[in-house]
Amino acid sequence: MTTAPRQPQPLMLRADAPLRGSVRVPGDKSISHRALMLSALAVGRSDVRGLLEGEDVLATAAAMRAMGARLERLGEGHWAIDGVGVGSLLQPEGVLDMGNSGTSTRLLMGLVATHPVSATFIGDASLSRRPMGRVIEPLTRMGADITASPGGRLPLMLRGADTPLPLSYRLPVASAQVKSAILLAGLNVQGETVVEEPIPTRDHSERMLKAFGADLRVEPLPGGGNRISVRGWADFRPQQLVVPGDPSSAAFPLVAALLVPGSDVLIEGVGLNPTRDGLVRILTEMGADIRPVNARHVGGEPVADLAVRHSALKGIEVPPEVAPSMIDEYPILFVAAALAQGRTVMRGIEELRVKESDRISAMAAGLAAAGVRVEERPDGLIVEGTGGAPVPGGATIATHLDHRIAMSFAVLSLAARAPITVDDRAPISTSFPAFLQLMATLGAVESQG
Ligand code: S3P
Repeated sequence: MTTAPRQPQPLMLRADAPLRGSVRVPGDKSISHRALMLSALAVGRSDVRGLLEGEDVLATAAAMRAMGARLERLGEGHWAIDGVGVGSLLQPEGVLDMGNSGTSTRLLMGLVATHPVSATFIGDASLSRRPMGRVIEPLTRMGADITASPGGRLPLMLRGADTPLPLSYRLPVASAQVKSAILLAGLNVQGETVVEEPIPTRDHSERMLKAFGADLRVEPLPGGGNRISVRGWADFRPQQLVVPGDPSSAAFPLVAALLVPGSDVLIEGVGLNPTRDGLVRILTEMGADIRPVNARHVGGEPVADLAVRHSALKGIEVPPEVAPSMIDEYPILFVAAALAQGRTVMRGIEELRVKESDRISAMAAGLAAAGVRVEERPDGLIVEGTGGAPVPGGATIATHLDHRIAMSFAVLSLAARAPITVDDRAPISTSFPAFLQLMATLGAVESQG
């Protein structure tokens, strides 16, 4: 399949004054994907509010529709989903176009793997470079028949098992996507499917599966981590869900407020699940003034408003064990480190090389072009900060179809002497379509190129 060539849309952001005001970030991307998938497996009508309407989640919505669920948009972020029931997904007619979304691809591969249907998964250039072997291997052991492109990549064809087998699997990489793919596959298997994760990763699937009525247990493993088991063939009860704000999106205005002198910002309704709050913990250790206020629960997840003020940051050594709780936040942490006092050492994060782009090399190249001193390592990055002074800037940054690279450099540009040009803003719509609007509310100004 070919798509029409698209003109890149550059972006230049600057701050002429401190950032001020209250903002609300969009719904959590991980939770939004799961809300649509699990609602589509319930018999009856689920209601979801606060759903992220970014391109990635819309790819999941289209796929669930193609497999028989009825999805209706009732208002902004408010959707009704009539599910088909576990075991009753229909054969999709066309290909499933996953766009840029690794989460849609890997989780849906899990769902399809144990249903007697076939599906062809395709994606954009970024997604077509990402490794799928990590889900192909366990799902094949559950009985799926998968023919992938060389290197275990998209496009791939998956024929779900007629008689799927339960699996007991220890994750070789800390990945919530792989864990979730296996648990979702386990829903339509007779017997118990078990995933052991030596290092805990985001647990949204476990929380939501329980809410829908799955027979799921989480037990601590003796050496650390968790053993998660799910029994197949549960009846899913439809749910009323509210999706909390995405901490991975909140990270961008949060770091912007830390870097622009005089800033004082409130970010409302941010999910602070302990498997996702690593960035707040690490920035606080670096000296950031971040106060969680009005702590509460939304949709079975801990949430708070974050009051953030401009802060003098100091470089630290970031322990590799925190990586899974902030895996998507490293690009913006690198930006925060660029204005810290001294060196920030971030190692044990080689997983960043297989995200929407190779985030270690894309960030290292962009930061160096903007005049920041960085040392790239195979498993991480060391950043030498300015001690609070603006970075030189004056560079054009290649975003490599990666939303988080684009937003990270848009934020760095607020703390640069000469403007930084992000070569293409379009990828931002995959996770945070209202990013520029939100930054404008806080006082950031878009320069015309
Ligand atoms: C996600 C898990 C993480 C994360 C991704 C979303 C999820 O990926 O990077 O943005 O929703 O399960 P990995 O499981 O590959 O670490």
